[in-house]
Amino acid sequence: MYYSDEIIEEVRSKNDIVDVISGYVKLKKQGSSYFGLCPFHSEKSPSFSVSRDKQMYYCFGCGAGGNVFTFIMEYENYSFVEALKFLAQRAGVELPQEEYSKEAKERADTRSALLEMNKLAAKYYYAQLKTEGGRQAREYLQNRQLSQETITAFGLGYSSKYSDDLFRYLKMKGYSEEMIIKAGLVNVDEKHGVYDKFWNRVMFPIMDVNNRVIGFGGRVMGDGKPKYLNSPETLIFDKSRNLYGLHRARTSRKPYFIVCEGYMDVISLHQAGFTNAVASLGTALTAGHAALIKRYVNEVYLTYDSDEAGTKAALRAAPILREAGVTTRVIRMEPYKDPDEFIKNLGAEAFEERIRKARNSFMFGLEMLEKGYDLNAPEGKTEFLREAARRLARFEEEIERDNYIEAVAKTYHVGYEELKKLVVKVAVQSGMAAPATKPRQTIRQETPKEDGHIRSQKILLTWLIDREELFDQVSRYVAPEDFTVELYRKVAELLYEQHAKGELNPAQIMNYFTEEEEHRAVAALFNTRIKELTTAGEQEKAIKETILRVKEYSIETATRNLDPTDIQGLQRLMNAKKAVQDLHKLHISIN
Ligand code: GTP
Ligand code: MN
Repeated sequence: MYYSDEIIEEVRSKNDIVDVISGYVKLKKQGSSYFGLCPFHSEKSPSFSVSRDKQMYYCFGCGAGGNVFTFIMEYENYSFVEALKFLAQRAGVELPQEEYSKEAKERADTRSALLEMNKLAAKYYYAQLKTEGGRQAREYLQNRQLSQETITAFGLGYSSKYSDDLFRYLKMKGYSEEMIIKAGLVNVDEKHGVYDKFWNRVMFPIMDVNNRVIGFGGRVMGDGKPKYLNSPETLIFDKSRNLYGLHRARTSRKPYFIVCEGYMDVISLHQAGFTNAVASLGTALTAGHAALIKRYVNEVYLTYDSDEAGTKAALRAAPILREAGVTTRVIRMEPYKDPDEFIKNLGAEAFEERIRKARNSFMFGLEMLEKGYDLNAPEGKTEFLREAARRLARFEEEIERDNYIEAVAKTYHVGYEELKKLVVKVAVQSGMAAPATKPRQTIRQETPKEDGHIRSQKILLTWLIDREELFDQVSRYVAPEDFTVELYRKVAELLYEQHAKGELNPAQIMNYFTEEEEHRAVAALFNTRIKELTTAGEQEKAIKETILRVKEYSIETATRNLDPTDIQGLQRLMNAKKAVQDLHKLHISIN
């Protein structure tokens, strides 16, 4: 299906965002915006804003944002085309007959087809569980003490003993063999041809944060191998960016998540009332998971298996979460294997007690380290403390480091001052001079830390749409190329084009981007929080300074990237630098 930009824009402009969202969220006018409780994360005071002028929404709490299409897609779990059809009908716009897909939309089409097929498969497995053939699976789930309510809530199902059941069903529904293969629901080999990937297994549909089925885990009902079979990664299934149970956990209204290892752990925990439990999808926790978690909570309780592998996994996960700004505590399950078994044996209250007693991950790490030393022997204890000091030296913030030094001193019965001296000594020895110079990496590449320059660029863009009267003055000095972040540059280009035509329309700019992630980023861009400046003089000064920062950084970046043999480029930069000098004398006037 391919719809023209014009028709998409017509549908968007005929659906006022405040009217549409009011149907879902109670909004109250506050200044020039409307505010309400965010439907995409749990909160007690409203940080979800909707702007009639901008025709956009943005949540200052969780960063959800976009235009009216994004909202319907996120809220109703619709694909873009579904949202378009829904809003077209709402506004009485007749959509043209579906045309053949253009190459540019092919990817989006494949995505929707894969989502549709996964949804169909989930319904199919769910129905199988109720049939006579599904009796063994029903008994299996009953034995694992899952209630009917839980089974329904997680959409558990059963894949039958026939190895081409689902394949035939999907073909009957009109999907091509090629598409069914792309969905990861079947295997292909020369000897057997195409056959179902899952058969005779209890099925766990995996949902993304918007409740869309994106893959499956299938468990044998006994001791067969492999115990779990998981869907392969597909266009819609990225294991490092999704968490099992997140679609429910995100509305749990608790300030932290419980992160565990297995599907069954998540389900058991939810059934016992811990509806904030999630698990990674049979892989180790990644920076992508950590960033996803950070959208909803600032704290995680890790409850990995009690065995060595689980302990190692917890120790690896903690720094990844920390790097993303998520505080981590570790819950131990001994003498049981995992949360599922723990709860079955000791119940929810005992689990609650373990949550209260959870160790923070640094102290947990030391506790594990301890096992390698004989703390009763002087050499053993000295060696152990030396390693602890090395770890303490890695804390960048002095207050935090001191707090930990204090905690370690108390736990291991050494003097605070002595331990502190040891930390400094170890730091100097290992060339850290001033403690902690560990380079920050991993997720930084995906979400560049917001430095002052980037922030100035965002502020400028927010101003341009909030105060169109400034546009001419600003655009005299700042061009779209001056925005160093690719997304900002593209947005600026579109914004400048609109302004030239005399019509600023930020919500339309969003039509240009296809991914919800991009919509969030653009919405954030247009909703930068700017300190209230009261007097015109203050405002003028702030605008001027922002222009200067953006301009200077743009030149700095260009200089850094300049080919040294490019004489003309050099000349241009020199001129630009001179112009910036003059800019210091610039006078911006408001009204
Ligand atoms: P139960 O034995 O049913 O209680 O499983 P569990 O939920 O306790 O899972 P377990 O701790 O054994 O494994 C944790 C997770 O790793 C599972 O949820 C799966 O995602 C994954 N996993 C486990 N076994 C296998 C396997 O044999 N193959 C693959 N690919 N993944 C597995
Ligand atoms: Mn288990």
